[in-house]
Amino acid sequence: MKQNKIKKFAIICSGGNAPGMATCVVTFTKKCLSEGITPIAFSNGLEGVHDNSVIPLTSAFVTRHTNDGSALIGTSRCPQFKESAAYRKQCVANLKKNHVDGLVVVGGEGSYKAALELSRNGIKVVTIPATIDNDVASTSYTIGFDTCLNTVCRVIREIGDVMVSHRGIAIIELMGRGCPDVTVRSAIANNTTYMVTKYSKLKPEGFLKIAKEGFAKGKRNITFLVAEKLYPSNGANSLPELAKWLEKTTGRFTRHVVVGYVQRGGQPSARDRMLANYMMNMGLDQLIAGKHSKAMCRKARKTTVIDLAKAVAMKRKSENKKLVAIFNKINQE
Ligand code: F6P
Repeated sequence: MKQNKIKKFAIICSGGNAPGMATCVVTFTKKCLSEGITPIAFSNGLEGVHDNSVIPLTSAFVTRHTNDGSALIGTSRCPQFKESAAYRKQCVANLKKNHVDGLVVVGGEGSYKAALELSRNGIKVVTIPATIDNDVASTSYTIGFDTCLNTVCRVIREIGDVMVSHRGIAIIELMGRGCPDVTVRSAIANNTTYMVTKYSKLKPEGFLKIAKEGFAKGKRNITFLVAEKLYPSNGANSLPELAKWLEKTTGRFTRHVVVGYVQRGGQPSARDRMLANYMMNMGLDQLIAGKHSKAMCRKARKTTVIDLAKAVAMKRKSENKKLVAIFNKINQE
C-alpha cells in the first residue's frame, strides 16, 4: 500500500551485534524499495545518527548479505545517548534534517529505551528485538538468540569430545548478561551435567560433589555450564582458580573455558532469518499505515505488535527457575 507522503525510512542497528541484524537490513531495504520508499541507514547505531553518517541503501548494497553474521551497517552501544541531552538533541535534529519519515531501531532493551526517547521527540519509530541474550521482556524470542544457542551447542559438543577422551571436567562460561536463557536452553539441549545460574549457584564443594558423584556413576566426563558474571573473573573464588582446585582435588583433567564473542557472530540460523523477515515486514507495515512507537514481538508463536512504551515498562517473566531445577536433577544421572 503506497502513501505518497512517505518518502524516506531509516534503519539503525543498536547495541551488541546479534546474528540476524544483517537480515533485518536486507529486508528493510527490499521492502522499502518495493513500496517506492527511499531506504537509508545510519552507520554504527546512534553514533551514526549523531554524526550524521548516512548510508544510502540499494539492492546492490544488500545483495548476498542476508546470511551475514555482522550487522552490515555497524552497531554500537552508545552510552553518550543516555548520558547527554545535547547528544540526544543532535540525534533528533539529524533525523529531522534528513527528512526521515520513519525509523526502525533493531536492538535490545537499551536500544528500546533510546527509541522511546526519540519517539517522545517527534521521531516515528518502530523497534525490532535483536540480542543474543533473549532478554527483551516484550518478546519470547529475540533475533540472534537461536543462532547463539546453536553456536553454544556446537562448542559444548566439541569441548565434550576432548573431555570425554581425557575423562575430564569442563567448566564452560557463557555470555548472556543477567539473563540465563542461553545457559539454560543450551544445557537442556545438550543434557549437560549441571547448569550454574543465579538460581543454582554452587560453592567449590558443590562442584566437587557433583563431579565425584558423576564419575562414581560411571560418567566419563562432567560439564558445568556457568552463566557469566556469577563469579569473579580472576583471583580467589574465580572459575580459573576453581578449575585448578578441582583438578588437584579430583586428579581429573579440568579446564575453564570462556566461550565469549563467538556467541555474538556467525551465520544467522534459518529461524533468526525468518524472524527478522517477519518482524521487519510487520514493522514497516506499521509505519506505512501511519502507526508508530510500536515494538515488534513474538508471542504464542505469532509475530505481533505492542506499544513501545508498554514494551519498555514490561518486566520479564521466565520459566528458567523451574527449568533449572528439573534439568539439573535429570542430568546428574
Ligand atoms: O548483550 C550481548 C552481550 O554479549 C552479553 O551477553 C554480554 O554480557 C555483553 O554483551 C558483553 O558486552 P560488551 O561486548 O560490551 O563487553
